[in-house]
Amino acid sequence: MELNKIYHGNTFELIKKVKDESIDLIICDGPYGVTENDWDKISDIQTFNLNLIKLFSRVLKPGGALYLFGKDNCIDFVDYRPFLTLNRKIIWYQPSRLAQGRLNFTNNYDLIVYFSKGKAKTYNLDAIRVPQLVELDHRKRCENVPSVINGMYGKTKFNEDGKNPGDVWGDIKQLTYKSKELISRKLLNTIQKPEKLIERIVKASSNLGDVVLDPFCGVGTTFAVCEKLKRNFIGFEINQEYIEMANGRVGNNNIQLNN
Ligand SMILES: C[S@@+](CC[C@H](N)C(=O)[O-])C[C@H]1O[C@@H](n2cnc3c(N)ncnc32)[C@H](O)[C@@H]1O
Repeated sequence: MELNKIYHGNTFELIKKVKDESIDLIICDGPYGVTENDWDKISDIQTFNLNLIKLFSRVLKPGGALYLFGKDNCIDFVDYRPFLTLNRKIIWYQPSRLAQGRLNFTNNYDLIVYFSKGKAKTYNLDAIRVPQLVELDHRKRCENVPSVINGMYGKTKFNEDGKNPGDVWGDIKQLTYKSKELISRKLLNTIQKPEKLIERIVKASSNLGDVVLDPFCGVGTTFAVCEKLKRNFIGFEINQEYIEMANGRVGNNNIQLNN
């Protein structure tokens, strides 16, 4: 498949054309099974996601990573273990969401499930550090408490450049109608993800010139981020209108990275 291009069609057909073990990173922001969009009407989202995981495990390089987006139950009760290793369930916390629930606690997060094919080959912590929230003196004192000295993270030292972002990401806001990067108001709350969110994933789990696949690429947030960060990109999208919007977001840097 040609790199740095979005293919029009159904992901389940297009992925057959991707070579075995040719992809370093997959960012899968596909159906959640919760909205009224035709493409989102999935009766059993867990089985749908398990099928995707099987297909992705063929095309990922050994050590390659998958980030699968969904709601809190998106991989419940399905056995992904024969295909990929689960490294972390990341909570993308959205405090701004309207707390409209009356019968239960309102769900305030999306899940981003981070898998790899075997042991992850890339984790660029220094590229994704975030500012230390806790005041410096206190943080340094904490390094000397027995549970830290004797515990499994005992060697972890305060790093002036910032800390690991952890697995609850509350520092990246979802887009609103006021966000400058929103491509079209029509897409609000349905599809477009913030570039910062995708940037964190691309920086953490890929290197310059790597190949990133976005199998449900929407209006091309991953494409735009890959161009900026000099990664190669392959996208799939069923909606031609979105592909045109996505293509309008790239082409400014004009750097060809094809290996
Ligand atoms: C949540 S959106 C992705 C948004 C994207 N992350 C962005 O920031 O623009 C999911 C996209 O998947 C597309 N889609 C849904 N089912 C598909 C399928 N079977 N094959 C290809 N694309 C599909 C939809 O048209 C939609 O644009």
